[in-house]
Amino acid sequence: MKIAVFVSGGGTNLQAIIDNISSGYLKGVEIVRVIASNKDAYALQRAADNGIPAKVMSVRDYPSRNEWDEAVLSELRESGAELIVLAGYLSLLGTMVVHEYSDRIINIHPALIPSFCGAGMYGIRPHEAALKRGVKVSGATVHFVNENYDEGPIILQKSVDVLPDDTPESLQKRIMKECEQVILPRAIRLIADGKVSIENNIAKVKED
Ligand code: GAR
Repeated sequence: MKIAVFVSGGGTNLQAIIDNISSGYLKGVEIVRVIASNKDAYALQRAADNGIPAKVMSVRDYPSRNEWDEAVLSELRESGAELIVLAGYLSLLGTMVVHEYSDRIINIHPALIPSFCGAGMYGIRPHEAALKRGVKVSGATVHFVNENYDEGPIILQKSVDVLPDDTPESLQKRIMKECEQVILPRAIRLIADGKVSIENNIAKVKED
């Protein structure tokens, strides 16, 4: 299965996918494009180090949102991508891409949806909000993407305990390592193996 990975930052989730392809866990999965929302994303270095074709496609560099959307779509078509993986991608995809890739776009979110999600809840912010609310568990969610932030069907979730002396940074680090980097590759594998379907806006997963 050919995948395109969209990134905005450090790319630890991209790295987890690369490592799981190398280890054979993601057998038959190939990253055909990395698309970054900004040129400074360290994820671009990870793509270069692994010989993965990468492109910076920032909405700001196009005359209109529609033209950016069309350009992203033609890049995806040319690459042959069958699944889009948003791995720390902090922009909203264009509507043409979302429609053409309907039910074939997944996102990793650093909280247990429906908690601490939606517009403005990205990066460190869900962890700050979780600690402020005093929740005792938090975690990550992989879900399908529709036009609204964090609202598509949930595929996988994984939790960790929130510890009494956690800071937003320590909680973020633990969730990235123990949750995100585990369930994102697992979701890609389940989809590649045809084990995920959507019925009435609910994702049904046949675990392997
Ligand atoms: C990750 O924690 C990811 O879950 C989060 O951004 C970080 C990117 O890290 N995504 C969101 O907040 C999306 N709403 P990475 O670039 O090292 O993978």
